[in-house]
Amino acid sequence: MSLPRVFVTRRIPEAGLDLLAGQATVDLWPEPLPPSYEVLTARSKDCDGILSLLTDKIDATFLAACPKLKVVSNFAVGYNNIDVPAATARGVKVGNTPGVLTDATADIAFCLLISAARRLVEGHLYSQSGDWKTWEPLGHIGLDLVGKTIGIVGMGRIGYAMAQRCYGGWGMKVLYSNLERHAEAEEKLGAKRMEVDELLPQCDFVSVHVDLNPATKHLFNAKRFGLMKRTAVFINTARGPIHDEPALCEALKNGTIFAAGLDVTDPEPPDPQNPLLRLPNVIVAPHIASATVKTRNAMATISAENLLAGITGKPLRHCVNP
Ligand code: GLV
Repeated sequence: MSLPRVFVTRRIPEAGLDLLAGQATVDLWPEPLPPSYEVLTARSKDCDGILSLLTDKIDATFLAACPKLKVVSNFAVGYNNIDVPAATARGVKVGNTPGVLTDATADIAFCLLISAARRLVEGHLYSQSGDWKTWEPLGHIGLDLVGKTIGIVGMGRIGYAMAQRCYGGWGMKVLYSNLERHAEAEEKLGAKRMEVDELLPQCDFVSVHVDLNPATKHLFNAKRFGLMKRTAVFINTARGPIHDEPALCEALKNGTIFAAGLDVTDPEPPDPQNPLLRLPNVIVAPHIASATVKTRNAMATISAENLLAGITGKPLRHCVNP
């Protein structure tokens, strides 16, 4: 009996590839850049399953072109690259990798927060530039963190982990906005829930942890940056299109807010000429929140397990279809 066929759209850690060996005929995309949409479709059309990345667009047209597909296993917690209703309608299961990247992502969110507040990257570039002539009592002044107020927009697993860091390590007051009440955050961290527009003027730091969907696209627009304190720092480790990038750029340029730390941009990668990249008060990381050995190995393992479960008709460990 022939093995099921799967397309793995990029090299992932061996922990995942090892699980697939002997269980499926694996077509592994060998290039460092993703396959084009056309190539992705051509390579997937006779497959029982694919292991996709957040850079692969899995839409209704793709799904229609791949009639044998039983599962799309995304190597990510987010799945905004996949048309889940279209997959569900065709009986295609969609898997993701939640839980294992919570701490790594909250660490990067906090890293961006403290680096942007204390102007660390600006200082590093200054050290490299040769302009450092003496210790300056009035130079490189940033913001304090202890006792300030953090606003968490999206109190899911990662939002909660970020709130724990801010509350436990830096004694911050926690305000949050979320569709549902987060009882543990309220009990353990004293967090207070409110609407985004009520939260923004009260926060020193705002960290975004919602998923990208039509309701959260451009949630952070010119109006909302205008509601924030002029000393506020905006952190986005979720998805780039949640902020309106030209509006963010303007808010950083004209002092509407103090600084921003981004692990995500819109689009990704940003155009190297994008003025946002040249502003002194923004730090842009190349979507690295989950980039630790343990986290990426765990994501590889779960996505391979989801793929194998899907092609053999078993329940996925993490399935996002309703
Ligand atoms: C990364 O952004 C992920 O969704 O896992």
